[in-house]
Amino acid sequence: MWDYTDKVNEHFRNPHNVGKVENPDGEGQVGSLACGDALKLMFKLDDEGRISEAKFQTFGCASAIASSSALTDMIIGKTLEEAEKITNKDIADYLGGLPKQKVHCSVMGREALEAAIYNYRTGKTWSKEIEGEVVCHCFGVTDKEIEEAIRNNDAQTVEDLTDTCKAGGGCGNCIPELEAILKRVTAEMEAEKNKPVQMPMTNLQKIHLIEDVIDREVRPALRQDGGDLELIDVAGDIVTVRFRGACSGCVVSAITLKDVVEARLKENVSEDITVEEIK
Ligand code: FES
Repeated sequence: MWDYTDKVNEHFRNPHNVGKVENPDGEGQVGSLACGDALKLMFKLDDEGRISEAKFQTFGCASAIASSSALTDMIIGKTLEEAEKITNKDIADYLGGLPKQKVHCSVMGREALEAAIYNYRTGKTWSKEIEGEVVCHCFGVTDKEIEEAIRNNDAQTVEDLTDTCKAGGGCGNCIPELEAILKRVTAEMEAEKNKPVQMPMTNLQKIHLIEDVIDREVRPALRQDGGDLELIDVAGDIVTVRFRGACSGCVVSAITLKDVVEARLKENVSEDITVEEIK
């Protein structure tokens, strides 16, 4: 017997929004009866583009029913952009948590919502294959879903993956590939965690860097032709300069300004920099 929260039991015993929406704007079906879990989700939008009605039909266990019921409650009143931000973890949290082995029920809810939104936007039926390469053929689980299970649900072992998205829970042929994906994504996540946080430059640091780039990359070239450049001001991403010597009356100074001065500063300081000349 699974240890379900009161909220899961409540949604399982008295599920909300069971049934069919007449003339739905979007509908999506995931899972299959052969696998023991299937969920169909339908919704209708109001004139403001908010979900006014959402219903589901499911063939699944208590947690599948509770997850679907919770999901329909969560999406009613939301726009599609808001609804698609709901993760399977949000569904599980809404229910006060799900047993580890039942997390895949919340994933199924998330997928059904994705499928229904896809159907609304394209008029087509969503299929998992378009979202990546199928790795686990027993349950039709793609590499993208496996990566999501690792990143969003903290799956750390093949067993965790089976609990989350069923991958690896059948013949076991996909296990070497699951292990390889686990290794790769875990290493990527570790590297992301250890990446030093880039602090934005202060204005003073930016001015010093601009002066340095002008000294090293711009001034020597201008001086070769008897010209020079003076830094007048830096206001946000606008850099104001004045040409000196031969450059000040040069007919191609506008080109020098953009192709040399601005180009070097964009490359070395910030892509957003614009250089303006003051006479
Ligand atoms: S291919 Fe994944 S369990 Fe069979």
